Amino acid sequence: MNKLPYHFCDLQREIRFDRFDLPAPWINYLSNGRMHAFVSQAGGGMSWWLSPMMFRLTRYRFYNMPIDSPGFYVYIRTEDGTVWSPTFRPCETPVDFREASHAPGYSVFTAKKRGLTAVMKLFMAQDYDTLVWELKLTNESGEEISCDVFAYVELSQFLAREETTLGYYLKWNTRAVFDEELQAITYAYTAWMHPRKDESPLVTLGSDVKIESYCCNRDVFCGNYRDERNPVEVQNGRLSDTNLQGGEPCGALHTHVRLQSGAEEQFHFFLGVTKGALSDYDKAMAEAQETLTALRKSGAVELQFAKLQVWWKEHLSVLQCELPDSEAERMLNTWNPLQSVQTARYSRAISSDASGVRGIGFRDTAQDMLAQAYRKPKWATEMLWYLASQQLEDGHAIHAAWPEEKRPPQDITRSDDHIWMVYLAYAIAAETGDLTFLDKEIPFLGTDLVTSAGSATLWEHLLRGVDFTEKHLGAHNLPLILFSDWNDHLGPFGRRGKGESIMVSQQHIVALRQLSEMAELRGDHTAAGSFSKLIEKQEKALRQYAWDGKWFLRGLDDDAQPIGTHTQEHARIWLNAQSWMVIADVCKEHQMEAMDSAARELDTGMGLLLNTPGYPGWPSKESAMVNGLPAGYSENGGVFCQANCWAIMAEALLGRGDRAWRYYKQIMPNEVIQKVGVERYHAEAYAYCSTMLGKDNEKFGWGCVSQVTGTAAWMDVVATQYLLGIRPTLKGLIIDPTIPAEWDGFTAERIYRGCKIKIQVENPDHIQHGVKELIVNGKAMDPLKGSIVTEDSLIHDSETQVKVIMG
Ligand code: GLC
Repeated sequence: MNKLPYHFCDLQREIRFDRFDLPAPWINYLSNGRMHAFVSQAGGGMSWWLSPMMFRLTRYRFYNMPIDSPGFYVYIRTEDGTVWSPTFRPCETPVDFREASHAPGYSVFTAKKRGLTAVMKLFMAQDYDTLVWELKLTNESGEEISCDVFAYVELSQFLAREETTLGYYLKWNTRAVFDEELQAITYAYTAWMHPRKDESPLVTLGSDVKIESYCCNRDVFCGNYRDERNPVEVQNGRLSDTNLQGGEPCGALHTHVRLQSGAEEQFHFFLGVTKGALSDYDKAMAEAQETLTALRKSGAVELQFAKLQVWWKEHLSVLQCELPDSEAERMLNTWNPLQSVQTARYSRAISSDASGVRGIGFRDTAQDMLAQAYRKPKWATEMLWYLASQQLEDGHAIHAAWPEEKRPPQDITRSDDHIWMVYLAYAIAAETGDLTFLDKEIPFLGTDLVTSAGSATLWEHLLRGVDFTEKHLGAHNLPLILFSDWNDHLGPFGRRGKGESIMVSQQHIVALRQLSEMAELRGDHTAAGSFSKLIEKQEKALRQYAWDGKWFLRGLDDDAQPIGTHTQEHARIWLNAQSWMVIADVCKEHQMEAMDSAARELDTGMGLLLNTPGYPGWPSKESAMVNGLPAGYSENGGVFCQANCWAIMAEALLGRGDRAWRYYKQIMPNEVIQKVGVERYHAEAYAYCSTMLGKDNEKFGWGCVSQVTGTAAWMDVVATQYLLGIRPTLKGLIIDPTIPAEWDGFTAERIYRGCKIKIQVENPDHIQHGVKELIVNGKAMDPLKGSIVTEDSLIHDSETQVKVIMG
């Protein structure tokens, strides 16, 4: 195989690239929680404030060529007229050396040409809504260098969707001018139709060096029939000082640099926003001035960068491990928790693939926040409260919402959306030990999807969800599929309103078990008792209808015919039905065999298929059963990565460490790339994809929809809580690893309920699962009580030492 175009530097938590024309942009997100951007290994990218749909600041041409453009560009023009960039794009001018790297929260681009080195670091200031472009030029040429440096971004009309449809009118509502006092370009988008017009920001592009010239008009900057790869004004060595009132805006600034031999110069460009340009222009201008003045002070940028690093350090330090497997260790310590933050922030909305208009998914966010419940429980709690406010009085939840955009949510009733809230509530309670967040009063959403209906505690919200499921059981007592369950494309099996979902039954049981535990702790034994009865009812239905002889069915269709049975030609076995039976802990006698069948029928060696064989694509009649998806793609015989997480969890629960870890490792992007190469896999080596094309597809192994996937949080939770087995529960922190037999053990550090715990796991007998001794601060715990570190055994002012001996 060809040499890989990247390598990891684990100590620095970096991935470094030495080739840039990858098959797709490999992006890094830069954010302070309010202003956001992503940037690729080539320098392409975009930025937005609060919402990529509402306040898109800079443009990115999704789906179009040239791919991955525009971005955050710096052009260096030397006296002989050569133009090059610290990033591969836009010029692609050959240089003597080039490297790029992504790390949590920042990216660095280095290029060297004829003795001049340019290093550009991009990150989001933490206290100001400003993207900082730090540029360092070093002259090692042996002679003086004089060059012109240009920074460039293409500005956007804020409303992403309207821009693509009505941009030809709306472009007359753009105003970009250079402000002498600010020494910065200011940009405002003034369309009256903006739903949050009053907050609409003032965008500024400034610097801390002398500005020689500027341009605010993209078309003037580039020149007729040119683009950002060869802008005429850069070629000329000077910008035309053009302002813009209507048209295609950009921010381009020019400075001149003279460097003695051996000299080095560092300066910055600042792409920032201040709120309320249209409602109070003077205030917005004054704030922009304040921000620029603050950032221009010496040491200010360094302080902002230090704060960013502290944020990540704190976030990651909640759990760090040392494993005999460096690939897994890298993923667990850095890249997976990094991706979990992205999906918690962006749901499925925005990446270089996803165009930023999808808002947040209800079930998606409830799952994304599972990985924050253990690192940022407050954040997870706030999101859960928000989600509960999107539940209707009958207990079902909306499916997608646009909280920032203030658009009404989408409500097509799925059978599962509301259930995911329970898991999140449980995860928060298990992390913090505090159940009072369940008493928070939260309004239901009215049926008009705009107003709110009567309010109730979060606990009551969760119970309404149970009611909804109970009121929507089918003829076999299993939950109806309704529009769909977790599988968006399962809907066709239940379009006539009778199809039933085995997965939802399994999920309902898991939710009821968790609710029971929480009810007991709240002293509500009556509720706990009633949940037991509901669990029994579901267990009975599953025992009666779910077993197919070698595996479990996925459901029953509108005609009560089995979905996922061995006699079917297509989709005869479905992964989730097997994994979730283990997770729900039902039909124990068949669980091993079901998971063995999954291994035999679905494991491709690069992930397990969601189902198999795929239905043939259109124009075959059967393709209607999967809404026309081609064979091997996504829910039609694809490797659905999120579903792989549950298979890993199930194998871990069964104690089969070798297999669980094989499944975990084989789907890691960096491992898939080692097998099929970068060209085939396409997507980032450090972030999970939503799906990979399955073996029914000739492009088997192609990673689709990277970054924004439920795989991020689930893999994070499964790997830390079920493979390493460091699992928060209401009773305390369970440490119950499932590992490969060959491991001697591992160590980990975990901050739990405010205490730092040092965990040492030893595996003297080389088993895959099982704990024979748990020693907390030198004291052996009663093995009959389970491998639990209880809250009262934690030491608050120093470290708690935990030794786990497997056996
Ligand atoms: C996508 C959706 C998610 C759904 C999954 C399977 O990832 O965002 O909500 O559950 O596909 O259909």
